[in-house]
Amino acid sequence: MSDEIEDYLNWKLAGRIDRRDFLKLGVSAAGIALVAACGGSNTVGPTGPTGPEFKLGVVLPYSGVYAELGNSITNGMRMYFDSVGNQAGNRKITVVTADEQVALADAVAATKKVVEQDGVDMVAGYVSSPNAAGNRNYLDGLKMPTLIANAGVNSLSRAAKSPFIYRTSFSNWQPSHPMGTYVAEKLGKKKIQLVYAKYGAGLEAVAAFKETFTGSGGTIVGPDVATPFPNNGDQTPFVQAIQTDKIDGIYCFMSGTDAVTFLKKAAELGTLKKLGLVSGAGFFVEQDVLAAITDAAPDGAITGLHWALPLANKENQDFVSKYSKKFSGRQADVFAVQGFDTARVIVEALNAVKGNTTNKDAFMTAIAGVSFKSPRGDFKFDATTNNVVQTIYVRKTVKDPKLGWTNQVIDQYPGVADPGK
Ligand code: BEZ
Repeated sequence: MSDEIEDYLNWKLAGRIDRRDFLKLGVSAAGIALVAACGGSNTVGPTGPTGPEFKLGVVLPYSGVYAELGNSITNGMRMYFDSVGNQAGNRKITVVTADEQVALADAVAATKKVVEQDGVDMVAGYVSSPNAAGNRNYLDGLKMPTLIANAGVNSLSRAAKSPFIYRTSFSNWQPSHPMGTYVAEKLGKKKIQLVYAKYGAGLEAVAAFKETFTGSGGTIVGPDVATPFPNNGDQTPFVQAIQTDKIDGIYCFMSGTDAVTFLKKAAELGTLKKLGLVSGAGFFVEQDVLAAITDAAPDGAITGLHWALPLANKENQDFVSKYSKKFSGRQADVFAVQGFDTARVIVEALNAVKGNTTNKDAFMTAIAGVSFKSPRGDFKFDATTNNVVQTIYVRKTVKDPKLGWTNQVIDQYPGVADPGK
């Protein structure tokens, strides 16, 4: 099998293939084989791009706690690249994927595979904070243009910032910092217990919440409920450690299957009903989690995030309906939006440099200058942090007659930028 066909199949198999896509696979793979057989891997025909192929290495989890997040980001990227005919700056865009998995050693191996074996021009991806941080020096040392499509580790916008690494998602500080003020001042809840997956992202998210919450007169009631990351075991002792009789509510950071198993257990043990407030960074009750837990969802949970399914702007309405059509009724989620926006940044930057990426500084300057109207609202990079500046929406979990379980927007903090230190 040629490398081109293998890459194509990897890409397709990483996402969810609907029937129509699957039927198209044979035709497209045959087309690629024909081009390869003619020795034309740099051209795709008389009307296609004539410049050299642009190879993008996508490192995302397709297994483990964050597999659903990786699938959604991949789908979002695929959707944007398809919308521009998989080309930009007169170059055909080819995607090669590698499984980030969970542990850093696997994420490092995946990065080296796309860089050293596949010879990519650029890297995008990383869901987990330690995996983004742990690959930072390698990518920076190679001057490899890189876009972080999820991992929120604060240091990448601060002391460990690199001129070759920009982030299209969020810093862990961003969704949680405004929520401390919101919970204490707007909701008047003053006694909160912290619940989080015990690793970099969880610790940074609750620290950002705590800063503004205590600054607004709130009290953190200890001890924290810190679960192993990932927690592949029983969540019962952690749910039982929530002191429902001493607190007004909880503030949580969990995502992926950690959030799914925790919320299912909390519903089963009746803990959710005893809490005056379930709050957190929005990943805890994002659409991927709600789809998995359905009626175990915490009704009325208040969370902060840079997107919500029902956002009324035109770009979002368009995105949500096209995404669901393309992926067999699957609902969009914040991770799909991040994938879509990441692909758009790549396409717009390639167009801006007319496909010339040999001058990496110029290519990074083009990336830094990309701004557009995203499904999440206005998207632009902050020159101080290489991170996106965005609105943080305050959302309330509801069962909507049309959308099912989702997060209604009840308030917002526009223009939230990581402080950079
Ligand atoms: C992180 O590790 O940075 C992360 C993972 C899932 C959701 C949000 C952040």
